[in-house]
Amino acid sequence: MSDLVQLTKDNDIAIITVNNPPVNALSPGVPEGISEAIEQIDKDPTVKAAVLMGAGKTFVAGADIKEFGKITSGKTERGIAFVPLLKRIEDCSKPVVMAIHGTAFGGGLELAMAGHYRVAAPTAQVGQPEVKLGIIPGAAGTQRLPRLAGVAKAVEMCADGNPIKAKEALSLGIVDKLIDGDLLTGAVAFAREVAGKPARKTRERNEKLGTPEQNAAIFAAARDAARKKARGLMAPLAAIDAVEAATKLPFDQGVEAERKLFTECLFSDQSKAMIHVFFGEREVAKVPDVPKETPIIPVNSAAVIGAGTMGGGIAMVFANAGIPVLLREADQAALDRGLNTIRKNYDNSVKKGRFTQQYMDERMALIKPTLSYDGFESVDMVVEAVFEGMALKKQVFGDLDKICKKGAILASNTSTLSIDEIASATSRPGSVIGTHFFSPANVMRLLEIVRGKATSKEVIATCMQLSKKLGKVGVLVGNCRGFVGNRMFGPYRREAQFLVEEGAGIEAVDKAMYDFGMAMGPLAVGDLAGLDVGWRIRKEFKHLEKPGVRQPLAEDRLCEMGRYGQKTGAGWYKYDENRRAILDPVVEENIRKWAAEAGVKQHAILKEEIVDRLIYALVNEGARILAEGFALRAVDIDIIYLTGYGFPAHRGGPMWYADTVGLKKVYDRISEFHKQHGELWEPAPLLKRLAEEGKSFAGFIKEPSAAA
Ligand code: 3HC
Ligand code: NAI
Repeated sequence: MSDLVQLTKDNDIAIITVNNPPVNALSPGVPEGISEAIEQIDKDPTVKAAVLMGAGKTFVAGADIKEFGKITSGKTERGIAFVPLLKRIEDCSKPVVMAIHGTAFGGGLELAMAGHYRVAAPTAQVGQPEVKLGIIPGAAGTQRLPRLAGVAKAVEMCADGNPIKAKEALSLGIVDKLIDGDLLTGAVAFAREVAGKPARKTRERNEKLGTPEQNAAIFAAARDAARKKARGLMAPLAAIDAVEAATKLPFDQGVEAERKLFTECLFSDQSKAMIHVFFGEREVAKVPDVPKETPIIPVNSAAVIGAGTMGGGIAMVFANAGIPVLLREADQAALDRGLNTIRKNYDNSVKKGRFTQQYMDERMALIKPTLSYDGFESVDMVVEAVFEGMALKKQVFGDLDKICKKGAILASNTSTLSIDEIASATSRPGSVIGTHFFSPANVMRLLEIVRGKATSKEVIATCMQLSKKLGKVGVLVGNCRGFVGNRMFGPYRREAQFLVEEGAGIEAVDKAMYDFGMAMGPLAVGDLAGLDVGWRIRKEFKHLEKPGVRQPLAEDRLCEMGRYGQKTGAGWYKYDENRRAILDPVVEENIRKWAAEAGVKQHAILKEEIVDRLIYALVNEGARILAEGFALRAVDIDIIYLTGYGFPAHRGGPMWYADTVGLKKVYDRISEFHKQHGELWEPAPLLKRLAEEGKSFAGFIKEPSAAA
């Protein structure tokens, strides 16, 4: 038998253990091992029933996702052929009890549903998360789940991909019994109870498949919701189609329908991109020169300085992770404002049913407002989020250097300033790091972790690990202006303005990007974040602009008109009392005038050009960042854009998208823009080189000697 599956016995009960760390995925060898075990169990007259469970921390967490890439690239002949195995388990002459702990996800739940019974630890979760990888269940999950849980729940689980807890699985009939205490002991006892009794095959259970009338309403509502919630994604709709097949076709034909839909999804660009994202989110946690064994500084208490837009959100992030946090402000009025905003945010979540009142009270109790530095001497980490200004930041870090204990992490939330210069205000630059949260900090998943020249490996390793505890995706970046995300966002926003000035409509620009899949168009984002933020930065860095190089006009002029965006009720758009954006003829008129004054000719611009100019502006800057070593890998840039900037997961991130288009094509298009629009479009040398060599960003690894 395969090393990955063991067959043992507890008297008359056979125990099949899947042992494929870390998550017992159904890698090659596992299905074969289970199949062999079932053959032996069938043949062995001393065995009355069987238990199947996972070794270590979980039941089977799904198919081996690494295999999918091998299948679509033709590197393996092997398809996903679990269906016959699952039928074989169901046809076993002895009852098979699936014992679930941890996560029975995807192929794991499909395996569990092929058992005659399922028992679970109360902490277990089950789910069909395949849509999050751009695919659908491929081993009859869409056929067996409605037979156990009913059509409505099966549609929801397969189309949304969110897991459910053991207790709900029990109430739905997915699980037959919860086992308190030792799972194996309980499962063996359960197996002994059911041994010798007739066992039902899930595939033959049709009583929950509903009536055509009931089902029609369920499927229509699910399709509506999927089109809204999962805009542009094919997998959720395919998952609904597959469950619908379960209600209309006999089991085997339903499985065949599922297989076709699964294969279409698997071979799509969407699924390749989403699988890239799955591994990417895990890859970014790995920093080549900061090994896994690097000591971690325990962070059991924290402090935040500044209770404004960011500081308040950051304090909530610590509190939500159960870490007590001091929140310091400069004066009482600002402190009261900050606390009120925090309370309002929590209140809203309670009203929406996301938190309980008790949860809110516990979190609020963890946030200790203060006007002084009292207590700072004992905290493990401080995050500074005061106004953006070097003199003020240096003063704050000078204070922290005097007050904080040795070894405390001193972090800045600055979005533009040099971490090295901030660190120079202290006697311990090794303890100083950037933790760049995104607004709203308690919601956005991205955390750019900015490494200064002197930042110690312990501090980096701690912040990377802490990001996970805080519910964030931490991505390590180098210390350049704007770091990675905002540095790329500059050219993107610039091109959005140029396009409008050249005659593309405001709505046309936003709609092109929305249709591409971005959460919002660039101009609407500007209004949301505040146009004045960029205006101030541009004024501060005016001296760095090259004379004679075209600069965007529109946003600065809008700011001069007092149109800062949503906060002033008007920016690119005007806003009604419900914050609905309305096109404002005054702005369109002014843009025509400003363009004429600046000698910019207006003309019709195709949607394709809008998308290319905006996305390739990101890509070209991303290529420079990569070559300069300010991002470790192309995938780090992708994850930054997916988790911080609303880039659609099914496009895989800007760098992955460029690889998908083909770097030669991207380079040629950027070269055209270079000719038409001048030096701002000079192709990044790395892009040129990779395009000429027929390579991709994904395969690019920077020489370590030159890394930032
Ligand atoms: N296949 C291959 N590798 C997997 C995997 C899988 N299904 N699930 C997790 N891994 C790997 C991760 O890449 C990671 O590798 P690394 O250490 O080298 O970076 C390692 O296992 C640990 O994973 P996490 O860091 O995510 O561990 P957590 O403990 O935080 O989470 C988990 C565990 C909840 C199981 C999470 O890993 C997860 O959600 N995995 C994906 C589950 C999934 O999507 N299953 C469906 C697969 S598709 C399928 O089954 C198709 C079927 O219908 C035919
Ligand atoms: P904000 O203006 O909303 O809040 C700053 C707060 O700091 C104010 O309440 C002010 O009273 C307080 N403050 C000033 N000096 C202080 C001192 N010495 N001690 C204690 N409190 C003091 O600013 P915001 O937007 O929260 O920005 C804070 C930092 O976060 C800046 O460095 C900014 O660049 C950065 N940032 C901002 C983002 C945003 O979207 N607003 C996004 C990411 C980073």
